Amino acid sequence: MLSDTSRPVIQATLPVVAEHIEEIATRFYRHMFEARPDLLDGLFNRGNQADGRQQQALAGSIAAFATYLIEKPDQLPDHLLSRVAHKHVSLGLSPDQYQTVHDHLMWAIVDVLGEAVTPEVAAAWDEVYWLMANLLINKERGLYGAVHLSPETIWRTWRVAQRIQETADVITFVVERIDERDVKPSLPGQYVTIKMPMKDGVHQPRQYSLTRADEGQHRHFAVKRVHGLPTPDGEMSNLLHQDVRAGDEVVLSAPFGDVVLEYTDRPVVLASAGIGITPMAGMLSHLVKAGSQRQVVLLHADDSPDAFPLRRQVTEDIGRLADGSLHTWFINAAGDQPSGSTFSGFMDVNAVELPMDAEYYLCGPLPFLQAVRSDLIANGVPAKDIQYEVFGPDLWLADFQ
Ligand code: HEM
Repeated sequence: MLSDTSRPVIQATLPVVAEHIEEIATRFYRHMFEARPDLLDGLFNRGNQADGRQQQALAGSIAAFATYLIEKPDQLPDHLLSRVAHKHVSLGLSPDQYQTVHDHLMWAIVDVLGEAVTPEVAAAWDEVYWLMANLLINKERGLYGAVHLSPETIWRTWRVAQRIQETADVITFVVERIDERDVKPSLPGQYVTIKMPMKDGVHQPRQYSLTRADEGQHRHFAVKRVHGLPTPDGEMSNLLHQDVRAGDEVVLSAPFGDVVLEYTDRPVVLASAGIGITPMAGMLSHLVKAGSQRQVVLLHADDSPDAFPLRRQVTEDIGRLADGSLHTWFINAAGDQPSGSTFSGFMDVNAVELPMDAEYYLCGPLPFLQAVRSDLIANGVPAKDIQYEVFGPDLWLADFQ
């Protein structure tokens, strides 16, 4: 993949690029947004920009990709590319924008590393960038094409039909279509991007998992209110909770997301924590709708029974399945207990008997994902059978660091 000319140059300079990735990422974004402030209106989320880890995601992924090219020249990091491509198309990214990112990123690398960036070094990193960019552009073209949409047409206006207060912090929004266009079907586990003007008029995007299988006219998504304002991180969830009422209009993208339930006959284990229940609720709803005969085990960890979002919906769906069961873990067990077995403390997958040869789907905060995934691997579950959805920057970045 990487040319023989660039390979030794990338090998030699990767450590120094990796060491300075934080600074490169910071200067790259600052430089790009100074030149193109429009990119902060409706494309990049300023809450993410305030979060250093998320800021490193883009530049860091290029360094992670370069490491991959050196260490596994015959393979591609499909998980990484697929996750990024889905996120990009859910934001309506177009191929011409890759040149902009290229120019500002290369500027930042030179700005941070100075004279170390000889013409040979610059050419080698240029090659890495365009290798990755072209793979992403192709994947993104395929994703748009599969649903017969383009960067302009992924957006559509819906009307809020209902707000359902699920828990103290979580509201489900049910939206209905108001035009005659077909509703693009969603796959179990996918998300949509919502794009809204904030109080200062600047548009901000955020992704939310769909919590129910399609019903033709409607979509359901659940929003957890992020506390701790005035950080920009909670801007969208606070706006939705406080200001968006039934009858209001919202703009959503078509559904995307690569962590989706496979259509097989194998048992399926869904493990979630907190608001990580949302893609699981979507998957359960699809299984019920399909009349699935699969063995389905839902494991859920939460602060308390009262904090368990979408609890009624998922409990009912588990009950509707031919072979569904629920196991819960609560830090504070006070409150009305759900059906199924309940445990106190953090999730322990060894406390329940899990089906052989199951597919696993995990969703929750990073430490939860790491702990559950490690336990499953230690119990002999093959890594290929474990898929996970991270809300926030992905694990591979942590692996790289
Ligand atoms: C998100 C990589 C090009 C806009 C991301 C993420 C990565 C990434 C790793 C985080 C995904 C996640 O885990 O959630 C890349 C790479 C690129 C590239 C490697 C080039 C080779 C672009 C371009 C644009 C763009 C050209 C548009 C100008 C975004 C936006 C997000 C994002 C808006 C969402 C995160 C946020 O709001 O900060 N990209 N990207 N990316 N990317 Fe890209």
